[in-house]
Amino acid sequence: MKLAILKERRNDESRVGMTPIIAGSIIKMGFEIFVESGAGLAANFTDDAYTQAGATVQTFDQLKGSDAFVHINIPTGELIDSLPDEIYWISSIYHRTNADIVAKMNAKNWNAISLDAIPRISRAQSMDILSSQANLAGYRAVIEGAYHLDKIFPMLMTAAGTITPSKVLVFGVGVAGLQAIATAKRLGAVVEATDVRPETKEQVESLGGKFIEVKGASVESEGGYAKEASDEYRKLQREAVNKSLSQADLVITTALVPGRKAPVLIDEEQLSLMKRGSVVVDMAAEQGGNCAKTVANKITEVNGVRIIGSVNLPSTLSTNASDLFARNIWELLKLIGKDGNISLDMEDEIIQGSLICSNGTILKSES
Ligand code: NAI
Repeated sequence: MKLAILKERRNDESRVGMTPIIAGSIIKMGFEIFVESGAGLAANFTDDAYTQAGATVQTFDQLKGSDAFVHINIPTGELIDSLPDEIYWISSIYHRTNADIVAKMNAKNWNAISLDAIPRISRAQSMDILSSQANLAGYRAVIEGAYHLDKIFPMLMTAAGTITPSKVLVFGVGVAGLQAIATAKRLGAVVEATDVRPETKEQVESLGGKFIEVKGASVESEGGYAKEASDEYRKLQREAVNKSLSQADLVITTALVPGRKAPVLIDEEQLSLMKRGSVVVDMAAEQGGNCAKTVANKITEVNGVRIIGSVNLPSTLSTNASDLFARNIWELLKLIGKDGNISLDMEDEIIQGSLICSNGTILKSES
């Protein structure tokens, strides 16, 4: 089967969905790999490197003869129109909020697998692109925050006196949050974190952070994801975090409820508690932001607090991010690839969770 790797169309995208090394491994599984010319350059993978790995570099028009397509970002309507019918399509689709794109794919009889919809179960961990990319993003969020701070992270004892370490507060202890905690600790900061899932306390502590518990209310979770927090929880959370918020130098927010607008965890009143010169890196900017004043892709300043609306952080680490993404695809192909062909087991929980449309039927919609 011919598997095509398209160049990403999104303006701020430097990643590519396949690396030469992983292409070589997938070719050994019996697939043929075709790569759009220049697709890997922004992530430092040349056309030559793909050719040496056994892949064929082609123009976009030549690629249209392929049977399956791998992409990182959701395809635009224009891209869908320009590709053949009845192909396998593998990318993030975020089907809950992109019904129009799903309808377009379905109209072309695509078999579309949405990588963001792969269930968060142990067996699927190796193919979980949300985790692999959020891990890198959590690291990068701290680096960005540190860059925008007018202070250093570690304690510094000098002849002129001692500088106290910076304080970092992390909202949301998922994949991105855990990596943010670990990175901030490595840089020497004092770290606190909070999450609606009480089981994350142990994880925060194992990384040397302090967990801020919200006592008196809890939030249900399902499939490894938190459900929406109640107003009561939000009130108690405010009370629990406000002191830390007022002392924090850097706040990283990562709270996400799948398919929903991001919950606001820092409202305007809470922002007014924060110190001049402190920084908020809002990783949920693309979903509306965890901070009331976040503007996606912009740095906003409110009373001397810089709020960074981070979008597509993994793209800023394109070499590592492409490598991990390609490894996720390889793992997925180990599940769905049989003798160089794709064959979907409709009884498999991973396929049931991630196959969005197939043979002219939409299998997953907004709900
Ligand atoms: P995750 O699902 O692993 O973690 C989110 C965490 O937030 C969970 O632990 C959840 O329990 C917690 N949470 C949910 N509601 C909360 C609330 N009201 N208060 C406190 N905690 C709450 O997600 P992951 O993979 O770590 O991603 C985190 C966020 O970062 C998402 O919004 C994701 O879209 C975003 N992201 C942003 C990137 C960027 O470039 N800006 C790149 C990668 C991810």
